Amino acid sequence: MVYKRLERFLIQLDEVDSTNTFASNLIRETDVSSGTLIVSKNQLEGRGQRSNTWTAEPGKNLICTLIFKPSIRADKSFYLTISVSLAIRKTLEDLGIQAKIKWPNDILVGKKKICGVLIENSVSGSKIAHSLIGIGLNVNQDHFDQLPNATSVILEKEEVELEEVMNQLYGYLDFYLNLLEEGHFDLLKKHYHNFLFGLNELMDFEDEEGIFQGTIKRVDENGFLEVDKKGVLKKYELKQISFC
Ligand code: BTN
Repeated sequence: MVYKRLERFLIQLDEVDSTNTFASNLIRETDVSSGTLIVSKNQLEGRGQRSNTWTAEPGKNLICTLIFKPSIRADKSFYLTISVSLAIRKTLEDLGIQAKIKWPNDILVGKKKICGVLIENSVSGSKIAHSLIGIGLNVNQDHFDQLPNATSVILEKEEVELEEVMNQLYGYLDFYLNLLEEGHFDLLKKHYHNFLFGLNELMDFEDEEGIFQGTIKRVDENGFLEVDKKGVLKKYELKQISFC
């Protein structure tokens, strides 16, 4: 397939507060190009979803943020999440690791998390002006003392060069974000569901009414999770449901 490549610019740092915060400052202060990837060996104030922090052993993991200025409408923003998740999953598959995507964009091996994603979009009118795609991929870290549900490439397979993983990931981000910009929404959605953790399986969840057993039926256009709860199809956004 021939496709338009991201213009690739790499900024490599030894230490930073957060690559997403660095990217946000860079966008505010300069005319930084879409396709710029900021990578840091260490992060002092790594940020996660739901206001969590993100910690990673220095020099062992891939900690990066891609600055992307997409030509897509804001109401298609969930497809950014889909494209990024698929790029990470495919990178891991090339390393011999079969991963699943836990809605909306955690990447799991079995039930353990190998990668987290923090996407911060800035919207202008009906368009996404820019997107900061933060990725924390556990690569050569072999112990997670406070995080029993974390895993890494070395734990699942073998030690790998961080640069090699970064290049593979950059390539697949390029590929899937290009599918997005070309409007292949149905294809992206289909692939996302192919790798969706827990699809059509009975699982435990918690919503505002408490813990219940339910089944994920699909994720809709806007990124809402549709769960069959005792025969009723309910839609949830991120803050309204958690997996038990
Ligand atoms: C999550 O699962 O909670 C999301 C974690 C995202 C972590 C990455 S590491 C690189 C980038 N910079 C940050 O501060 N966060 C993201």
